Amino acid sequence: MAKIVLVEACSHSPFLFLQPEQWNEVRAARPPAPRNPAMSEEDNLLQHARCMAAFEELEKRLTDAAPDVLIVFGDDQSEQFDFNNFPSFAIYAGAEYEGYRTLARQGIVPGTSREWAPKTKESWVTVKGHPELAKELLVGLGVRDFDLSFMMDLPNKEHGMGHAFMRPLHYIRPAFDIPVVPVFVNCYYGPQPTAMRCYNFGRAIREVIEASPLDLRVAVLGSGGLWHTPGMPDSWIDEAFDEATLAAVRSGDAKGMAERFDAAGAEPPPEYADGAKARWIDGGTGMYAGIGGGTGETRNWIVAAGVADGHRGTVVDYVPVYASPCGMGFAYWDMG
Ligand SMILES: [Fe+2]
Repeated sequence: MAKIVLVEACSHSPFLFLQPEQWNEVRAARPPAPRNPAMSEEDNLLQHARCMAAFEELEKRLTDAAPDVLIVFGDDQSEQFDFNNFPSFAIYAGAEYEGYRTLARQGIVPGTSREWAPKTKESWVTVKGHPELAKELLVGLGVRDFDLSFMMDLPNKEHGMGHAFMRPLHYIRPAFDIPVVPVFVNCYYGPQPTAMRCYNFGRAIREVIEASPLDLRVAVLGSGGLWHTPGMPDSWIDEAFDEATLAAVRSGDAKGMAERFDAAGAEPPPEYADGAKARWIDGGTGMYAGIGGGTGETRNWIVAAGVADGHRGTVVDYVPVYASPCGMGFAYWDMG
């Protein structure tokens, strides 16, 4: 019988892959905003060190759990899918795939090249999938009313697998030596699935795994978030929103996490009326369906929390990186 041995969740912001000395170079490109205080270089160094320590903890927990396979919930930001066809939920069921370990573009620091990073053995890696488990999820989820799109190969091999699936492994499994099943959740482009549907999706995934005859130790990762509105000129962090998400991690209340997320996004924010900002909220589709943008990736935490439903989680750290700005969250649920 397959067994879920560990559930984790973490942010995957590009700032986590820059040196902290570069943070304020990026920050300097945005005008000062009342909701986005300036951070000193010393603050940035400390915050970066906390984020790295949190990743170390997640890496250690993952190693100790000794999983045979990792399922990652992540979102595609026009890396594999585009508006010719954009799924709400999809799964990669192929034998392997390739992708950038961290940043696909050479730099986000103003003035540096936005060209594709060269594909070297330091930057580009092949990752094994797990077709057996992926196919079992497809069939098992189908009979539980979740009909997923599936991929046997990558539509966009030039880009490679998207950031949400690749970047966290750079820290929590740097050898990339474990099969990974990417599960795509549309977080960025309206209409996204509701958080309640994401919660139920996570619960259904747990059911399928626990009913599986495969002899597998399964770990799960929710990748993205927490609060961030990348691209918006007056970006900020809603620390209270993130703290409520993390409180639900601690109490094991995945359903409450989903209810709160849907309630907070029930009405478009005032910025949605501003055409220049609307695309950072609905991804440019013109269809508002709840919190979008970077914060929309909190859905990946909600799916993970749904898998761990009822188990109390541990928040390793929460670091509001105002230089980005992004609320960096790191958590795990011990399923033993
Ligand atoms: Fe992302």
